Amino acid sequence: MNKPFGNSDEKLSAYVTRVYAPEDAVLAEIRARSAAAGLPDIQVAALDALHLEVLARAAGARRAVEIGTLGGYSGVALLRGMGAEGELDTIELSEHHAEVARESFRRAGVAARARIHIGAAADVLPQLARRGPFDLVFIDADKPNNTAYFEWALKLTRPGSLLIADNVVRDGAVLDADSSDASVQGVRHFNAALAAEPRVVASAIQTVGSKGYDGLAFAVVVGE
Ligand SMILES: C[S@@+](CC[C@H](N)C(=O)[O-])C[C@H]1O[C@@H](n2cnc3c(N)ncnc32)[C@H](O)[C@@H]1O
Repeated sequence: MNKPFGNSDEKLSAYVTRVYAPEDAVLAEIRARSAAAGLPDIQVAALDALHLEVLARAAGARRAVEIGTLGGYSGVALLRGMGAEGELDTIELSEHHAEVARESFRRAGVAARARIHIGAAADVLPQLARRGPFDLVFIDADKPNNTAYFEWALKLTRPGSLLIADNVVRDGAVLDADSSDASVQGVRHFNAALAAEPRVVASAIQTVGSKGYDGLAFAVVVGE
């Protein structure tokens, strides 16, 4: 399986995959069709999609915002977690990615509950503010803007809402304070802002990345 669990330990990855079976035929088809359409292989790992589904369900989320749709892989997971009443507003810069995602939502049987907003998240988020509060915001787009998206997430949510962000470790690159990579600096800034923000209680779990390790941050909003 791609993006294996357990720091690329094949046996451990196979064990977790066998036991938790995080990727069903619907998600596998989305990943394959996204690759065939030329999309980059940067959807969340299968186990992280399962994390999203479980977290959405644990939070009792019914309305979620996703920043970074790609081919709809994580969007389907979030919609599954929100159940039959759940609705997703997902933002995507690329029309081509959005087209693939539209087909993914259709095939997953969730198209009626998924709204894809094509455009830069910085332009779309203010439009969504009118329709808040949302129960969950998932940040997974251009990392240099992570902290700006976090600030929007606080505006879009209410106490009890869940905020989630992927790739907060970047295969360990976050350790380099002097990195010239804007994504690394964006994530470093975001992690510091999230951890220091008094309106949330936040943590991060180790997940999987291209070199075997990444991180998923999650936070519950506790104040306005
Ligand atoms: C990591 S992928 C999202 C993966 C998706 N969440 C999943 O796991 O299936 C990031 C996506 O964000 C999109 N993106 C990049 N910059 C953006 C921006 N400024 N506004 C909205 N979307 C953006 C990219 O085109 C890409 O499809």
